[in-house]
Amino acid sequence: MTRRGRLKRLAAGTAAALLAGWMLGAAGPGRAAAAPEGALYLDPAQPVDDRVADLLSRMTLDEKIGQMTQAERSALDSPSDITAHRLGSVLSGGGSTPAGNTPQAWADMYDSYQRAALETPLGIPMIYGVDAVHGHNNVRGATIFPHNIGLGAAGDPDLVQRIGRATAEEVAGTGIDWNFAPCLCVARNDRWGRTYESFGEIPELPGAMTTLITGLQGETLGGDPASVLATAKHYLGDGGTAGGDDQGNTELSEAELRAVHLPPFRAAVERGVGSVMISYSSWNGQKLHGHRYLITDVLKGELGFDGFVVSDWAAVDQLDGAPGFTGSEVADAVNAGIDMVMVPYEYQQFISTLRAEVQAGRVPMARIDDANRRILTKKFELGLFERPLTDRSWTSTIGSAEHRAIGREAVRKSQVLLKNDNEVLPLDRSARVFVAGKSADDIGNQSGGWTISWQGDSGPVTEGTTILQGLREVAGDASRVTYQREGHGIDSSHDVAVAVVGETPYAEGQGDRPGSMGLDQEDLNTLNRLRASGVPLVVVLVSGRPLDIAGQLDGWDALVAAWLPGTEGGGVADVLYGDYAPTGTLPVTWMRSASQQPINDGDGKDALFPLGHGLTYSGTDPDPEPDPDPEPDPDPEPDPDPEPDPDPSAACTADFRVVNSWSGGFQAEVTVSNTGSAALSGWRVQWTNPSGVTINSLWNGSHTVSGSTVTVTNANWNGQLAPDASASFGFTASGSASPVPQTSCTTG
Ligand code: GLC
Repeated sequence: MTRRGRLKRLAAGTAAALLAGWMLGAAGPGRAAAAPEGALYLDPAQPVDDRVADLLSRMTLDEKIGQMTQAERSALDSPSDITAHRLGSVLSGGGSTPAGNTPQAWADMYDSYQRAALETPLGIPMIYGVDAVHGHNNVRGATIFPHNIGLGAAGDPDLVQRIGRATAEEVAGTGIDWNFAPCLCVARNDRWGRTYESFGEIPELPGAMTTLITGLQGETLGGDPASVLATAKHYLGDGGTAGGDDQGNTELSEAELRAVHLPPFRAAVERGVGSVMISYSSWNGQKLHGHRYLITDVLKGELGFDGFVVSDWAAVDQLDGAPGFTGSEVADAVNAGIDMVMVPYEYQQFISTLRAEVQAGRVPMARIDDANRRILTKKFELGLFERPLTDRSWTSTIGSAEHRAIGREAVRKSQVLLKNDNEVLPLDRSARVFVAGKSADDIGNQSGGWTISWQGDSGPVTEGTTILQGLREVAGDASRVTYQREGHGIDSSHDVAVAVVGETPYAEGQGDRPGSMGLDQEDLNTLNRLRASGVPLVVVLVSGRPLDIAGQLDGWDALVAAWLPGTEGGGVADVLYGDYAPTGTLPVTWMRSASQQPINDGDGKDALFPLGHGLTYSGTDPDPEPDPDPEPDPDPEPDPDPEPDPDPSAACTADFRVVNSWSGGFQAEVTVSNTGSAALSGWRVQWTNPSGVTINSLWNGSHTVSGSTVTVTNANWNGQLAPDASASFGFTASGSASPVPQTSCTTG
């Protein structure tokens, strides 16, 4: 179902837009002549709230509705449409680029639209949004970072913040001020076509990676000229749909929805995220885009979100299940708490429809004013009124060596070594290496969807380093690295074969895999050809999710999950040649068979590789032992008042809290704390269930039940606790947690 007319994008319209923009530009950059000189809202020294109130008091209904309207750039006949319809926002859908798709063309396009917005009577600047979900991925030559699933495997929130900052600089260099990222989706079924947009299957991973928001926005929104508005998306439960069906139905109790999908948004709000995008999906049959309780009561009320809520692309149209949108759908969405509607094409019809709903009293003026306050507040905070046009000092950062170095670091850290028999890895530089596979020399495949075009493409779609180019660079002597895509020509003169195989690009629902999740026939043929040679075989999987490969695994000597690394394929070579030992761990459970989907940590299913699995090279010790015979201290100072040696044993406690309850069930959260003086390598918590209690779902640990005794053991990624550190696990259960059970905690 082509849900959107993205493919009917008209590049020709852009030429007209640029010409009109140039003519408008003749009026000079900055403030519109029409804006009332000396008005309070124009004074940056005034408090934002006062500026918003002053501006709101001057706005007509149409100007307010215009601020709530976002149009796709290709829907505009010319920038003057922005002036005429008072449009508050424009976007580029995936792959919607100006002619030439150069940074300069983007900046010129942005400035032409902004000048048109400044020509409106009140000179309110528009805000322009793009999906820069792994770098400024629409723009040719931009740095393309690993997709989120690889960053979840890297498990480095600081790195993700640096990626956010680098992305903000490249986005700002094209004028753009709003990024529809990060996706804070918790991917619970790997059949979902957006699994790679998730940092992982447990809320802790996207929660930790909300550092991307700080990277994009800065410590405070607008705090520096490269600050870009971030978007927490897609609220709520997009990764939890039945069958992994994109835009499908998330069938969960409220407790489970809150436990698994809400925490990353709470973390994003705490970081000051400026916008939230609503999910296409439904919760127990009700579309999120009409869900007043979750949007207004929970997100804006309970979580205290003070930014603005934007719809997804033409998502309002879906509320009644019929094509297009009606007054009722528009009223339902706006009254539910949506502040800006990504229409994106029929924006004039949207404006007239919403106007009619307000005039009929079906959308209160208070709701319109609240939406405008939220939108205008972020525009003032972002500095759009003071710095409306592109700051071209950032344009040179696009695809810069510094940013590509961050990308290569991220690629290295995202590699997960799943198998390494006979230490076939790392490769020796003297080895004669035979490389094969459709994704060994393909920037498009290694970047995945949302790259230059919405769906992405195989082939040389942008500038970068393929994995093969990286191998030849790192090997030193490129002649030792032979490549033949299908594996023809391999023989015993080669010391090792490296097959780079996996998925070709896709995005959103077009990536859903309701059937097989295995390798395609080309890959299988290539692998069989290599295996028949008897040469040791290293498989590198370039994919957006775990694949069903258990049936082939025995014939592989080593397996590396490379995910979707982006333009810096050299990072894969860095790890394969051992310049960097692999440190990545699985952010998602790896199935033994597609029939197990959904398969997640703690659900008791027998995985091929568990969440958190990841090997390193035997000669490498990520935590080097202390020096066995340190140099004696030449003149040790006597300890003035020696403390009694603390008990060196590690000890732990477990705090059991009921965080939610309802008739017939409850949700609990247990916090495990290291109360000893030594680091914990693992923990176990036990308690006796009150009678009638049965655990239904448990996360962040694995549990066994014997009679009424429950034992929970740490997951792979939360067992190691430094002194005073803590980890938590949660569960939902039927029955009543009364009296609250006493817990015991043991270490090791
Ligand atoms: C898409 C996606 C969303 C994206 C938006 C704008 O449908 O669901 O993630 O931000 O449209 O491209």
